[in-house]
Amino acid sequence: MTRVMVIVGSVRPGRIGRPIADWVTSDLLGVDGRDVDFVDLAELALPFMDEPNHPLLRQYTKPHTLAWSERVEAADAFVFVTPEYNHSFSPALKNALDFLSHEWRRKPVTFVSYGGASAGTRGVIALKPAVVALGLVPTLTNVEINFPGSFLSDDGEFQASDTHRSRLQLALAELVALAEALRPLRELAPAR
Ligand SMILES: Cc1cc2nc3c(=O)[nH]c(=O)nc-3n(C[C@H](O)[C@H](O)[C@H](O)COP(=O)(O)O)c2cc1C
Repeated sequence: MTRVMVIVGSVRPGRIGRPIADWVTSDLLGVDGRDVDFVDLAELALPFMDEPNHPLLRQYTKPHTLAWSERVEAADAFVFVTPEYNHSFSPALKNALDFLSHEWRRKPVTFVSYGGASAGTRGVIALKPAVVALGLVPTLTNVEINFPGSFLSDDGEFQASDTHRSRLQLALAELVALAEALRPLRELAPAR
């Protein structure tokens, strides 16, 4: 069983990230062998990084950090559902990443990005150095959604196109394969 954590990277009221992440989750749950932990950063409500020690030391002092650490540790792979804000990534997502270190290491991540003409790709490009610095391994295939508002139903549900669906299936297949390939490396003593 591969435990996939889906993270809703935007936190503002009315964000489209939530219906997109709901769609991702329903497609993920449709396949045997995948277990999902759904994390809405608006509900998780982490404060701005407030730990006194570098996360590499794992000397966490706050209950919210300990709980977040345990949850991320239990995941084998990640889907970041992320908007593009001013040609970059969501600050809430970066904050959630910065809280931890080893917990992310040698695990794969795929991105479901969205925005205007760029489909959020500039945000993903900006985010990649940070995820690589943490030892996360990005997939080759990502899902990129242009003007996502045009895919919302009247009741606010994201209605994925065939292209969105096939890209997501490709990305998830790669994500799960990478999680298995990386598993032996996770058992090695972690480098600093
Ligand atoms: C602060 C802010 C900055 C944005 N900057 C960009 C941008 O640089 N490129 C883009 O394509 N869309 C940009 N947008 C539009 C967002 O992609 C769009 O509003 C999207 O719905 C935001 O995701 P969210 O609804 O999950 O918060 C921006 C939106 C906000 C609120």
